Amino acid sequence: MKPVPGILDIAPYVGGRGEAPGQPRVFKLSSNESPLGPSPKAIEAFKAASASMHLYPEGSAAALRGAIADVFGLNADRIVCGNGSDELLHLLPQIYAGPGDEVLYSEHGFLVYKIAALAASAVPVAVPEPNLVTDVDAFLARATPKTKIVFVANPNNPTGSYNTAAELRRLRAGLPKDCLLVIDAAYAEYVSRNDYETGIELVATTDNTVMTRTFSKIYGLASLRVGWAYGPAPVIDALNRVRGPFNVSTPAQAAAVAAIRDRAYVDHCAAHNAKWLPWLSQRIAATGLKVRPSVGNFLLIEFEPTGKKTAGAADKFLMERGVILRGVAAYGLPNGLRISVGTEDGNKAAVAALEEFMSKP
Ligand SMILES: Cc1ncc(COP(=O)(O)O)c(C=O)c1O
Repeated sequence: MKPVPGILDIAPYVGGRGEAPGQPRVFKLSSNESPLGPSPKAIEAFKAASASMHLYPEGSAAALRGAIADVFGLNADRIVCGNGSDELLHLLPQIYAGPGDEVLYSEHGFLVYKIAALAASAVPVAVPEPNLVTDVDAFLARATPKTKIVFVANPNNPTGSYNTAAELRRLRAGLPKDCLLVIDAAYAEYVSRNDYETGIELVATTDNTVMTRTFSKIYGLASLRVGWAYGPAPVIDALNRVRGPFNVSTPAQAAAVAAIRDRAYVDHCAAHNAKWLPWLSQRIAATGLKVRPSVGNFLLIEFEPTGKKTAGAADKFLMERGVILRGVAAYGLPNGLRISVGTEDGNKAAVAALEEFMSKP
């Protein structure tokens, strides 16, 4: 028994830690989850759907695709739902890339892209990202006729940076026609920049671009595993052939429908983020640490590579105070910690702990 090439090169994905042993109060700021939780309407819908858990789900997630289509003004036939957007990100290389084909992603981009490429026995290629912003010119310089998929997280996790709509249009125009551009807009709802687009426009105006989205972030449904993709009809058709036939459970579909329709709650969550992201950024920068600009629901903090103020030392110090951040060494950022925007209490606890850490001799 021997796994196909690539499988044993995969470093298993390690999620954010959730426990700080011995701490009476724990603030989990390690996984970019919604600090406010799901809409009460989503919880109600989940509970109501639980009565039918003995029945298989409606496999095409028609009601959910309809709700998504309504909210964003899309054609429901060009949407496919997944068991988290992770499922769809994994399937795309299986469909479009095989041995010898290249899958490109940014050097400090979301880790799943490399795993998904290797799982398809394709060749993962990390494109240099000197300024911690996805570099369109570097992608265009690196793309070859073997490049079959380009993944761009916009905004990117864990850097928090984003690319403008014009930059992504330029990237699309310069890539080979038979190379699929995947725009992963997991954090789109948090972005408020005039020059940003989620990817809907580019999908609508090209036949080789896909956008993925998730219910795990602003909609607060991370544990239910619901994501979706919007793309050209042939890509959606291919995804529908290979995805699990019942990949999104009935309670997950019901909760997601209620969550996406509760726009007042989404706005409330976006406002919370818009208030606390700059607050965290300013207060952390005031301790002397370097904080990267972010348009998501998290910030990348940079520490000294050596001495007393390293990321490792800070992580340990914060853990001992019940504040859990995310180490990002696996993203090629050994001196960084990522902090998700939390509740007011969580944000204040994190800042107090970082202030104490930085001020101690
Ligand atoms: C950029 C990016 N894409 C996708 C995901 C995964 O989302 P899902 O929970 O829908 O699988 C994450 C989760 O952290 C992410 O940061």
